[in-house]
Amino acid sequence: MSEASLPFNDKILPGRILKEEWEKSIKNPQEYWAEKAKAIDWFRTWDKVLDDSNPPFYKWFPGGVLNICHNALDRHLDTPRKNMLAYIWEGENGEVRTYTYYQLYREVNKLAKVFKNFGLKKGDRVAVYLPMIPELPITLLATARVGGVHTVVFSGFSAEALAGRINDSGAKIVVTADGAYRRGKTVTLKDTADRAVAATPSVEKVIVVKRTGQTVPMKEGRDYYYHEALAKVEPNAYVPPEPMEATEPLFILYTSGTTGKPKGVLHGIGGYLVWGYWTLKWGFDPNEKDIWWCTADIGWITGHTYNVYAPLALGITSFIFEGTPDYPAQDRWWEMIERHGVTILYTTPTAIRMFMKFGEEWVNKHDLSTLRLLGTVGEPINPEAWKWYDRVMGKNKLSIIDTWWQTETGGFMIAPLPGIELVPLKPGSATNPLPSIYAEVCDEKGQPTPTGVKGFLVVKTPWPGMLETLWKDPERYKQTYFGRWPNIYYTGDYAVRDPDGYFWLLGRADEVLKVAGHRIGTVELESALVSHPAVSEAAVMGKEDAIKGEVPVAFVTLRSGFSPSEELRQQLVQHVRATIGPIATPDAIVIVNKLPKTRSGKIMRRLLKAVLAGAALGDVSTLEDEASVEDIKATYDELKRQLEKK
Ligand code: WT7
Repeated sequence: MSEASLPFNDKILPGRILKEEWEKSIKNPQEYWAEKAKAIDWFRTWDKVLDDSNPPFYKWFPGGVLNICHNALDRHLDTPRKNMLAYIWEGENGEVRTYTYYQLYREVNKLAKVFKNFGLKKGDRVAVYLPMIPELPITLLATARVGGVHTVVFSGFSAEALAGRINDSGAKIVVTADGAYRRGKTVTLKDTADRAVAATPSVEKVIVVKRTGQTVPMKEGRDYYYHEALAKVEPNAYVPPEPMEATEPLFILYTSGTTGKPKGVLHGIGGYLVWGYWTLKWGFDPNEKDIWWCTADIGWITGHTYNVYAPLALGITSFIFEGTPDYPAQDRWWEMIERHGVTILYTTPTAIRMFMKFGEEWVNKHDLSTLRLLGTVGEPINPEAWKWYDRVMGKNKLSIIDTWWQTETGGFMIAPLPGIELVPLKPGSATNPLPSIYAEVCDEKGQPTPTGVKGFLVVKTPWPGMLETLWKDPERYKQTYFGRWPNIYYTGDYAVRDPDGYFWLLGRADEVLKVAGHRIGTVELESALVSHPAVSEAAVMGKEDAIKGEVPVAFVTLRSGFSPSEELRQQLVQHVRATIGPIATPDAIVIVNKLPKTRSGKIMRRLLKAVLAGAALGDVSTLEDEASVEDIKATYDELKRQLEKK
């Protein structure tokens, strides 16, 4: 991008240092990132910082050779960090385990050895289906150590969803657990993994972590207990970290898009690590005295970057927790913050709204004076939740770092950056873009909207943490992210800028829902519903929810021979849970005689949205001129009646 095309004059960045830093990064990304990349240990220096000769397939640090596990562990071993805690983990049952960097290193080496013995080679995929236990980051690190590619599937996904992801990635090894704890009860994971693996011919070995101790079937020659496999290798096993090209893949993480098929977001090694390292440093500036708690499960990108790679590369101590926030009581989090002396809390608006509902007395029972910084991510934070977070958690003394980013971006993109310079905060705004992020709010034509006018959030410059492509689908990568306007990254979010230039995120602009911060594609839910024999057609929409932000509501029509009943509705809910997983559970299933459609057969989503929002139908003649006004009105009334019945 030429300097002349950069509108520096109307780009208002409040902080002077921030502005300088941002401008430097945009004007000369090569020089800027060459300097920043020195924070990482390279086995061989890159030939070029950024190869942008074939957009939108950008290559960061081509020719550079490194290993991310070496950067997370080995490089700390001849520093005092060797004996510092990498992780403090608390189980749902109150059990606490800690790992120093050295202990973690030894454990990772042993698992890496097991992987090697199982024939795992550079580039081979490992699927991970585990609860939030230390073996989860250990598996990621061991995979990266031997040059493998991990794909973590959140443990709230079904056997079918797991099988789909294993097959798409072609994983050779699956790492799972016998079961997991959920609110004091044990649930099984191995059974689910078994059902998945029955349909995944690529899988050769299944490693099973004993978490609950429940009896599970083990298939001879395929299934191995983690502790037994590790006990068989030498206690001081050492596997040299595989030298990897910076642009080689590190992981695939499946995420929902606008079609029924999840996208395999592919992240490389070098750029992703550099971005993770610097974004965490800029955003929260953690040091050796901190206890960093990012509450995300490692099944999501937030956990990958900010529970594994970035904090370990920085050499800080992270706290990780297995359970749910309200078990055994609604002050579980505050109790743990007090017990472990957590200093930075990074969580979601959904969690904050839930705690608001529980009541601040739960928080006030505890001494939270160790906290020095708060953060939020996953969905827009409403000003009320922001203010509650600030007052009740932060005692009006702590900054709130609202970080906007995505699975695809690898790390923070828009956020206040106290590690560079803290700008004045505004409740509900993620503030300004990070260095190298030339963000803009655009209209349909890709032209910047005037101040105060809502539009699409786009990014006009490549950045080191960006996805490399979609796994086995470069065409879809190009179409999805760069198909609207050439060479401009389309985020799928709405945003607006205020007169100070601050960005306000306004939610998804596409058919993707954010339910409790989790990304769920409406089309995925619709496909799951129509795969049930009773369902003829389905339309899924998001409905506003006071705690979860939004929840999915499904409108369905039935095939002949089926009639609406509570039982059928329950069956459909179960069917969605079995097809996608409990995280996609619809809030309501509304059975209707007919879905509102245009004459060309397209479902009128705007009308469904209006019904859900309780909004008046308005002037339907201009709403959809392809269908009869009478029809629309009648259908609207029916939908409303059915919805009210629920
Ligand atoms: C979508 C990405 C980034 C890690 C967790 C989610 C929404 C994320 C914010 C925020 C407003 C946000 C966007 C984005 N989002 N953070 N701070 N303010 N919206 O990753 O599952 O890939 O979802 O989450 O809609 O596009 P993801």
